[in-house]
Amino acid sequence: MTARFFDLDALGLTLLEESKGRAAALTRKGIIPCLALVEVGDDPQSATYVSRKIEDCKKVGIAVQKIVLPATVTQADLLDQILRLDRDTSITGILVQLPLPAHLNEGQVLQAITTEKDVDGLHSVNLMSLTTSDPSVIPCTVRGIDAVLQQTGLVLEGANVAVLGRGRLVGGPATLLFSGKSRNATVTSLHRKSRNFKDVLRNSDVIIAAAGSAHLVTPDMVRAGAVVIDVGMSWPEGSLQGDVHPAVAEIASWMTPPDRSFGVMTRMMLLKTVLDLAEKRIAA
Ligand code: GUN
Repeated sequence: MTARFFDLDALGLTLLEESKGRAAALTRKGIIPCLALVEVGDDPQSATYVSRKIEDCKKVGIAVQKIVLPATVTQADLLDQILRLDRDTSITGILVQLPLPAHLNEGQVLQAITTEKDVDGLHSVNLMSLTTSDPSVIPCTVRGIDAVLQQTGLVLEGANVAVLGRGRLVGGPATLLFSGKSRNATVTSLHRKSRNFKDVLRNSDVIIAAAGSAHLVTPDMVRAGAVVIDVGMSWPEGSLQGDVHPAVAEIASWMTPPDRSFGVMTRMMLLKTVLDLAEKRIAA
Protein backbone atom coordinates (compact mmCIF):
# COMPACT_ATOMS: atom_id res chain seq x y z
CA MET A 1 0.00 0.00 0.00
CA THR A 2 1.15 3.53 -0.69
CA ALA A 3 -0.35 6.27 1.43
CA ARG A 4 -2.25 9.26 0.13
CA PHE A 5 -0.68 12.41 1.48
CA PHE A 6 -2.86 15.12 2.96
CA ASP A 7 -2.61 18.28 0.85
CA LEU A 8 -2.09 20.66 3.75
CA ASP A 9 -1.46 23.70 1.55
CA ALA A 10 -4.69 23.24 -0.41
CA LEU A 11 -6.65 22.65 2.79
CA GLY A 12 -5.02 25.71 4.30
CA LEU A 13 -6.04 27.88 1.35
CA THR A 14 -9.66 26.74 1.59
CA LEU A 15 -9.67 27.56 5.29
CA LEU A 16 -8.10 30.95 4.65
CA GLU A 17 -10.81 31.88 2.13
CA GLU A 18 -13.52 30.71 4.52
CA SER A 19 -12.08 32.90 7.29
CA LYS A 20 -11.96 35.93 5.00
CA GLY A 21 -15.69 35.64 4.44
CA ARG A 22 -16.46 35.23 8.12
CA ALA A 23 -14.26 38.16 9.17
CA ALA A 24 -15.97 40.39 6.58
CA ALA A 25 -19.42 39.33 7.80
CA LEU A 26 -18.46 40.13 11.40
CA THR A 27 -17.06 43.51 10.43
CA ARG A 28 -20.31 44.31 8.59
CA LYS A 29 -22.12 43.64 11.86
CA GLY A 30 -19.84 46.08 13.65
CA ILE A 31 -17.67 43.51 15.42
CA ILE A 32 -14.00 43.73 14.52
CA PRO A 33 -12.31 40.46 15.47
CA CYS A 34 -9.10 41.41 17.28
CA LEU A 35 -6.39 39.04 18.49
CA ALA A 36 -3.94 40.10 21.20
CA LEU A 37 -0.64 38.29 20.73
CA VAL A 38 1.67 38.30 23.73
CA GLU A 39 5.32 37.51 23.05
CA VAL A 40 7.73 37.24 25.94
CA GLY A 41 11.47 37.43 25.30
CA ASP A 42 13.30 37.19 22.00
CA ASP A 43 13.25 33.52 21.10
CA PRO A 44 13.73 33.61 17.27
CA GLN A 45 11.38 30.68 16.63
CA SER A 46 8.61 32.27 18.69
CA ALA A 47 9.18 35.58 16.89
CA THR A 48 8.76 33.81 13.53
CA TYR A 49 5.56 32.08 14.66
CA VAL A 50 4.13 35.35 15.94
CA SER A 51 4.99 37.22 12.68
CA ARG A 52 3.26 34.51 10.65
CA LYS A 53 0.18 34.74 12.83
CA ILE A 54 0.10 38.50 12.29
CA GLU A 55 0.41 38.06 8.50
CA ASP A 56 -2.42 35.51 8.51
CA CYS A 57 -4.68 37.79 10.53
CA LYS A 58 -3.99 40.68 8.14
CA LYS A 59 -4.83 38.50 5.14
CA VAL A 60 -8.29 37.69 6.46
CA GLY A 61 -9.20 40.98 8.16
CA ILE A 62 -8.58 40.18 11.81
CA ALA A 63 -7.05 43.07 13.75
CA VAL A 64 -3.98 42.34 15.88
CA GLN A 65 -2.53 43.88 18.99
CA LYS A 66 1.02 42.63 19.56
CA ILE A 67 2.43 42.97 23.05
CA VAL A 68 6.14 42.28 23.41
CA LEU A 69 7.51 41.88 26.92
CA PRO A 70 11.14 41.44 27.93
CA ALA A 71 12.43 37.96 28.84
CA THR A 72 12.96 39.32 32.36
CA VAL A 73 9.27 40.26 32.89
CA THR A 74 7.95 39.18 36.26
CA GLN A 75 5.01 36.82 36.68
CA ALA A 76 3.03 39.65 38.31
CA ASP A 77 3.63 42.06 35.41
CA LEU A 78 2.70 39.44 32.84
CA LEU A 79 -0.50 38.64 34.76
CA ASP A 80 -1.30 42.37 34.89
CA GLN A 81 -0.97 42.61 31.13
CA ILE A 82 -3.32 39.68 30.67
CA LEU A 83 -5.84 41.23 33.04
CA ARG A 84 -5.71 44.41 30.99
CA LEU A 85 -6.34 42.46 27.78
CA ASP A 86 -9.15 40.51 29.44
CA ARG A 87 -10.87 43.78 30.34
CA ASP A 88 -10.30 45.48 26.98
CA THR A 89 -13.60 45.01 25.13
CA SER A 90 -12.01 45.72 21.74
CA ILE A 91 -9.99 42.50 22.07
CA THR A 92 -11.87 39.33 21.18
CA GLY A 93 -9.06 36.78 21.60
CA ILE A 94 -5.79 36.44 23.53
CA LEU A 95 -2.83 34.20 22.77
CA VAL A 96 0.34 34.03 24.85
CA GLN A 97 3.06 32.53 22.68
CA LEU A 98 4.67 29.47 24.29
CA PRO A 99 7.11 28.42 25.57
CA LEU A 100 7.62 31.12 28.19
CA PRO A 101 11.00 31.76 29.82
CA ALA A 102 11.68 29.20 32.56
CA HIS A 103 11.15 31.56 35.50
CA LEU A 104 7.50 32.10 34.54
CA ASN A 105 4.64 29.82 35.58
CA GLU A 106 3.06 28.91 32.24
CA GLY A 107 0.06 27.12 33.77
CA GLN A 108 -0.86 30.12 35.90
CA VAL A 109 -0.54 32.46 32.91
CA LEU A 110 -2.88 30.30 30.81
CA GLN A 111 -5.40 30.21 33.69
CA ALA A 112 -5.42 34.01 33.78
CA ILE A 113 -6.87 34.30 30.28
CA THR A 114 -10.63 34.57 30.41
CA THR A 115 -12.18 31.43 28.87
CA GLU A 116 -14.19 33.49 26.34
CA LYS A 117 -10.96 34.94 24.87
CA ASP A 118 -8.83 31.81 25.19
CA VAL A 119 -8.08 31.13 21.51
CA ASP A 120 -5.53 28.44 22.41
CA GLY A 121 -8.13 26.52 24.42
CA LEU A 122 -5.53 25.85 27.11
CA HIS A 123 -7.43 27.21 30.13
CA SER A 124 -8.36 24.21 32.31
CA VAL A 125 -12.10 24.86 31.84
CA ASN A 126 -11.71 24.74 28.06
CA LEU A 127 -9.42 21.72 28.29
CA MET A 128 -11.94 19.79 30.38
CA SER A 129 -14.67 20.64 27.88
CA LEU A 130 -12.73 18.56 25.35
CA THR A 131 -13.87 15.43 27.19
CA THR A 132 -17.56 16.37 26.85
CA SER A 133 -20.00 15.91 23.98
CA ASP A 134 -19.65 19.62 23.16
CA PRO A 135 -16.05 20.87 23.32
CA SER A 136 -15.82 24.65 23.59
CA VAL A 137 -12.38 25.62 22.22
CA ILE A 138 -10.22 22.98 20.56
CA PRO A 139 -6.49 23.84 20.65
CA CYS A 140 -5.38 24.83 17.15
CA THR A 141 -3.11 21.94 16.19
CA VAL A 142 -5.57 19.38 17.56
CA ARG A 143 -8.33 21.08 15.57
CA GLY A 144 -6.14 20.71 12.48
CA ILE A 145 -5.60 17.02 13.21
CA ASP A 146 -9.35 16.55 13.63
CA ALA A 147 -9.95 18.28 10.27
CA VAL A 148 -7.52 16.09 8.34
CA LEU A 149 -8.94 12.96 9.98
CA GLN A 150 -12.37 13.96 8.70
CA GLN A 151 -10.95 14.00 5.17
CA THR A 152 -10.14 10.30 5.34
CA GLY A 153 -13.75 9.27 6.00
CA LEU A 154 -12.51 7.13 8.90
CA VAL A 155 -15.08 6.52 11.62
CA LEU A 156 -13.38 7.69 14.80
CA GLU A 157 -15.99 6.27 17.12
CA GLY A 158 -14.57 3.08 18.58
CA ALA A 159 -11.32 3.35 16.55
CA ASN A 160 -7.99 2.66 18.21
CA VAL A 161 -6.00 5.88 18.32
CA ALA A 162 -2.44 6.13 19.63
CA VAL A 163 -1.23 9.56 20.69
CA LEU A 164 2.53 9.83 20.97
CA GLY A 165 3.54 12.52 23.43
CA ARG A 166 1.54 14.40 26.07
CA GLY A 167 2.70 17.97 25.62
CA ARG A 168 0.54 20.91 26.63
CA LEU A 169 -0.21 22.03 23.06
CA VAL A 170 -0.89 18.78 21.22
CA GLY A 171 -0.49 15.37 22.88
CA GLY A 172 -2.36 16.23 26.07
CA PRO A 173 -5.40 17.91 24.48
CA ALA A 174 -5.50 15.39 21.58
CA THR A 175 -5.90 12.57 24.11
CA LEU A 176 -8.72 14.46 25.83
CA LEU A 177 -10.58 15.29 22.61
CA PHE A 178 -10.35 11.96 20.82
CA SER A 179 -11.18 9.88 23.91
CA GLY A 180 -13.95 12.31 24.86
CA LYS A 181 -17.68 12.04 24.33
CA SER A 182 -17.68 13.98 21.06
CA ARG A 183 -15.22 11.71 19.17
CA ASN A 184 -15.48 8.47 21.20
CA ALA A 185 -12.25 6.81 20.05
CA THR A 186 -10.29 4.38 22.21
CA VAL A 187 -7.15 6.35 22.88
CA THR A 188 -3.81 5.20 24.23
CA SER A 189 -1.43 7.91 25.34
CA LEU A 190 2.16 6.82 24.71
CA HIS A 191 5.17 8.45 26.30
CA ARG A 192 8.72 7.89 27.49
CA LYS A 193 7.66 5.45 30.20
CA SER A 194 5.32 3.37 28.03
CA ARG A 195 6.41 -0.27 27.98
CA ASN A 196 4.41 -1.77 25.13
CA PHE A 197 4.95 1.06 22.69
CA LYS A 198 5.29 -1.04 19.51
CA ASP A 199 2.34 -3.34 20.30
CA VAL A 200 0.04 -0.38 20.89
CA LEU A 201 1.13 1.29 17.65
CA ARG A 202 0.69 -1.91 15.64
CA ASN A 203 -2.86 -2.20 16.98
CA SER A 204 -3.80 1.38 16.09
CA ASP A 205 -6.11 2.58 13.33
CA VAL A 206 -4.78 6.11 13.79
CA ILE A 207 -1.37 7.27 14.97
CA ILE A 208 -0.95 10.88 16.05
CA ALA A 209 2.75 11.57 16.54
CA ALA A 210 3.57 14.62 18.65
CA ALA A 211 6.70 13.56 20.49
CA GLY A 212 9.34 15.69 18.76
CA SER A 213 11.62 12.68 18.34
CA ALA A 214 13.00 12.26 14.81
CA HIS A 215 11.74 9.22 12.88
CA LEU A 216 10.60 7.46 16.04
CA VAL A 217 7.79 5.67 14.20
CA THR A 218 9.13 3.14 11.69
CA PRO A 219 7.22 0.97 9.20
CA ASP A 220 7.43 -2.18 11.37
CA MET A 221 5.37 -0.37 14.05
CA VAL A 222 2.45 0.54 11.77
CA ARG A 223 -0.60 -1.52 10.88
CA ALA A 224 -1.31 -1.76 7.14
CA GLY A 225 -3.85 0.90 6.18
CA ALA A 226 -3.46 3.00 9.33
CA VAL A 227 -3.90 6.79 9.18
CA VAL A 228 -0.70 8.47 10.36
CA ILE A 229 -0.59 12.12 11.37
CA ASP A 230 2.79 13.56 12.18
CA VAL A 231 2.94 16.92 13.94
CA GLY A 232 6.29 16.24 15.64
CA MET A 233 9.23 18.42 14.73
CA SER A 234 12.93 18.20 15.51
CA TRP A 235 16.09 19.31 13.77
CA PRO A 236 18.68 16.61 14.57
CA GLU A 237 20.90 17.40 11.58
CA GLY A 238 19.87 20.96 10.96
CA SER A 239 16.87 20.13 8.79
CA LEU A 240 13.32 19.47 9.92
CA GLN A 241 12.45 15.84 10.68
CA GLY A 242 9.09 14.57 11.73
CA ASP A 243 8.38 11.82 14.26
CA VAL A 244 7.42 9.44 11.45
CA HIS A 245 9.93 7.75 9.16
CA PRO A 246 9.13 8.52 5.49
CA ALA A 247 9.04 4.77 4.69
CA VAL A 248 5.81 4.54 6.72
CA ALA A 249 4.18 5.86 3.53
CA GLU A 250 4.51 2.31 2.14
CA ILE A 251 2.24 0.98 4.91
CA ALA A 252 -0.25 3.72 5.82
CA SER A 253 -3.46 4.54 3.93
CA TRP A 254 -3.29 8.29 4.65
CA MET A 255 -0.37 10.25 5.96
CA THR A 256 0.92 13.77 6.43
CA PRO A 257 3.73 14.60 3.96
CA PRO A 258 6.99 13.28 5.49
CA ASP A 259 9.33 15.68 7.28
CA ARG A 260 7.04 18.64 6.66
CA SER A 261 5.56 21.08 9.13
CA PHE A 262 1.88 20.82 10.06
CA GLY A 263 2.07 24.57 10.79
CA VAL A 264 -0.28 25.74 8.04
CA MET A 265 -3.15 23.78 9.63
CA THR A 266 -2.35 25.13 13.10
CA ARG A 267 -2.29 28.68 11.78
CA MET A 268 -5.52 28.36 9.81
CA MET A 269 -7.29 26.81 12.78
CA LEU A 270 -6.16 29.71 14.95
CA LEU A 271 -7.96 32.10 12.58
CA LYS A 272 -11.06 29.91 12.71
CA THR A 273 -11.03 29.93 16.50
CA VAL A 274 -10.51 33.70 16.70
CA LEU A 275 -13.59 34.09 14.50
CA ASP A 276 -15.59 31.53 16.51
CA LEU A 277 -14.98 33.47 19.73
CA ALA A 278 -15.77 36.82 18.11
CA GLU A 279 -19.02 35.40 16.70
CA LYS A 280 -19.98 34.05 20.12
CA ARG A 281 -19.92 37.63 21.37
CA ILE A 282 -22.77 38.49 19.05
CA ALA A 283 -24.70 35.45 20.21
CA ALA A 284 -24.06 36.29 23.89
N1 GUN B 1 3.98 27.79 20.39
C1 GUN B 1 3.99 26.90 19.37
N2 GUN B 1 2.74 26.60 18.98
C2 GUN B 1 1.91 27.33 19.77
C3 GUN B 1 0.47 27.45 19.85
O1 GUN B 1 -0.30 26.81 19.12
N3 GUN B 1 0.01 28.30 20.81
C4 GUN B 1 0.85 28.99 21.64
N4 GUN B 1 0.29 29.77 22.55
N5 GUN B 1 2.16 28.89 21.59
C5 GUN B 1 2.69 28.07 20.66
